[in-house]
Amino acid sequence: MHSAQRAHLLFTRYVSRGELLRFADPMPSPDARKEPRPRRDWTFGELLDWTRGRFAEVGIDSPRLDAELLLAEAAGCARIDLYLRRDDLVDAAVRNRFRDMVRRRLAREPVAYILGRRDFHALELELYVDANVLVPRPETELLVDWILEDLPADAARPPVVLDVGTGSGAIALAIGRARPDARICGIDPSEAALEVARRNAERLDLHVEFRPGRAADLGRLVQTWAPPDVVAANLPYVASADLEAAAPELSYEPRLALDGGPSGLDVIEELVAAVGHLDPRPDVYLEIGADQADAVTRLLRAAGYAGVDVRPDLAGRSRLVRARRARTRDATGRGSPPAAADEEVEQHRQDDGQEQARRQGDVQGEPVPLEDQIPG
Ligand SMILES: C[S@@+](CC[C@H](N)C(=O)[O-])C[C@H]1O[C@@H](n2cnc3c(N)ncnc32)[C@H](O)[C@@H]1O
Repeated sequence: MHSAQRAHLLFTRYVSRGELLRFADPMPSPDARKEPRPRRDWTFGELLDWTRGRFAEVGIDSPRLDAELLLAEAAGCARIDLYLRRDDLVDAAVRNRFRDMVRRRLAREPVAYILGRRDFHALELELYVDANVLVPRPETELLVDWILEDLPADAARPPVVLDVGTGSGAIALAIGRARPDARICGIDPSEAALEVARRNAERLDLHVEFRPGRAADLGRLVQTWAPPDVVAANLPYVASADLEAAAPELSYEPRLALDGGPSGLDVIEELVAAVGHLDPRPDVYLEIGADQADAVTRLLRAAGYAGVDVRPDLAGRSRLVRARRARTRDATGRGSPPAAADEEVEQHRQDDGQEQARRQGDVQGEPVPLEDQIPG
């Protein structure tokens, strides 16, 4: 190719894309061999700006944060240092590492898998994560906060907590970090997820036990372990059909962690049925989909739970549920007389009947957007 033709090609390529000629593309396309060699004098600021723009163009939710996390990782520095180094040139090794990460992110792989870690619960825990576990979400931190608020500080015996569907161990380990006195076990049917959870317990030096098991195995597990005071669970709750249309990032996460069956409620129903058979019943804390609060409340009340409360997530959607079965005061110092509790359950059943009747007369509400049904 003549140099004039080549110059014209380069000009139209970059200017027609709205990119400045001097910002040679650090993400060469498959026919990169025909393209100019990437520029060697990118500064940190220029790389960040370019990447943030590309991430935004393809619809990534947090383009600036993601660009900063990846560049800080590639450069081996803290995010704040990127600003101090804004005008510094980025050396070739860092640029190469960064380019590979940017490619993966543009293919919509979650940042946590690219970095191999995720901070959880107010940065208290740095969890190792890989594609065998769900990337822990900020909403789940609110579930942990709620449990910690309620766990009695001055219990006569250590509180016993079971995290069902533990994945990376996020919930169990966050409670373990905050309450070293608690006895905690996480269960999951995925052996690969349990390996991740055990690895996290070891690197964080936390004494949390992890065992294989499904929600339906609760009765058997309790016999060989201990009756829990609290069952915490962020189970799969996306309806199978909705998964196909969900954000591309979800296709990297284990289907077992997301798929809640045709209604989205299969695994939550499995858990509620299992806790309903425990004696004494534990308090239950669940993370749920944005359109599931009424259905889950009804399930829990039908299983004999007197007090069911719902809390919003950071976006104000009803995503967290707590069910408490009032009971005689036990060694943890909680509970109230069973007779009062049973009356309360009966009152709630009647309220539910009235609520259902009222709803049947209601006009159908607004459909819940798909992205609101995504776990975490
Ligand atoms: C949404 S992920 C949550 C992981 C972790 N608790 C968190 O909050 O990051 C759901 C987890 O439930 C597990 N799971 C799937 N089916 C289950 C079942 N029937 N009983 C118990 N856990 C199940 C999955 O393997 C997955 O690790």
